[in-house]
Amino acid sequence: TPKGTCLESVKIAIDTGYRHIDGAFVYFNEHEVGQAIREKIAEGRIKREDIFYCGKLWNTCHPPELVRPTLEKTLKILQLDYVDLYIIELPMAFKPGDAIYPRDENGKFIYHETDLCATWEAMEACKDAGLAKSIGVSNFNRRQLEMILNKPGLKHKPVSNQVECHPYFTQPKLLEFCRQHDIVIVGYSPLGTSRDETWVNVSSPPLLKDTVLNAIGKKYNKTAAQIALRFNIQRGVVVIPKSFNPQRIRENFQIFDFSLTEKEMKEIEALNKNVRYVELLM
Ligand code: A2P
Repeated sequence: TPKGTCLESVKIAIDTGYRHIDGAFVYFNEHEVGQAIREKIAEGRIKREDIFYCGKLWNTCHPPELVRPTLEKTLKILQLDYVDLYIIELPMAFKPGDAIYPRDENGKFIYHETDLCATWEAMEACKDAGLAKSIGVSNFNRRQLEMILNKPGLKHKPVSNQVECHPYFTQPKLLEFCRQHDIVIVGYSPLGTSRDETWVNVSSPPLLKDTVLNAIGKKYNKTAAQIALRFNIQRGVVVIPKSFNPQRIRENFQIFDFSLTEKEMKEIEALNKNVRYVELLM
């Protein structure tokens, strides 16, 4: 995003009422997010404890000895003392080093063999040190979650798993498994993401054009985006919509003044196509 856009957007979001901010080192804007939070604290609008900041451990930092220094680097960029949630961004590891996407001479990703359970133990140590209030994962499937849950000597289980989740990709099986284990699903791309062909599977139709979502929206005088978000929060899935547009930032927050009927929830659930927008082919 252009310089300053993220700073302004986070400030508008906080003024609007958002408190959960989903960030990552690899978004390269944590300095602006941190600045926005600190400015709003200085203004007296919020206290640090009102904010729920989620940071992420990138693929090149899975070796256990890199976990804490990587989180410390994020905290230094944010200029905050702790994150509320720190998560393993993806289950696969890349070769450690300066290259965020390390590739060989043929353009293939260079992976790295690590033990996710050892990475998890280093995450636990970050929580114990007070650098992260809670720890979780992202893009983990059931098998990968089970590896952590069944780890001998597990000290802290993952509190959340951030995965793609919206009416065209409702995650019924993973959601049920996570419910059984008290793991919160945080749904990314809750609006069906952008239509950027470089990383989005655009062969799946745009979510916000969906006729069912738009028809239900008409009834409540809401947009398809608001219906998609309301659907997920109403079934206990956390949503992290992304927008850099002030009007849409506000729109995406106007979802607490109505509720969908059970029939409408079922109708939206039936839209599931089991197709991802974000295929993460790496
Ligand atoms: P913009 O930043 O111009 O608002 P997701 O959260 O699923 O990843 O979707 C993000 C995409 O959806 C961005 O391209 C964003 O663009 C757009 N977007 C965000 N909020 C809305 C909304 N209420 N209506 C339509 N598009 C939206």
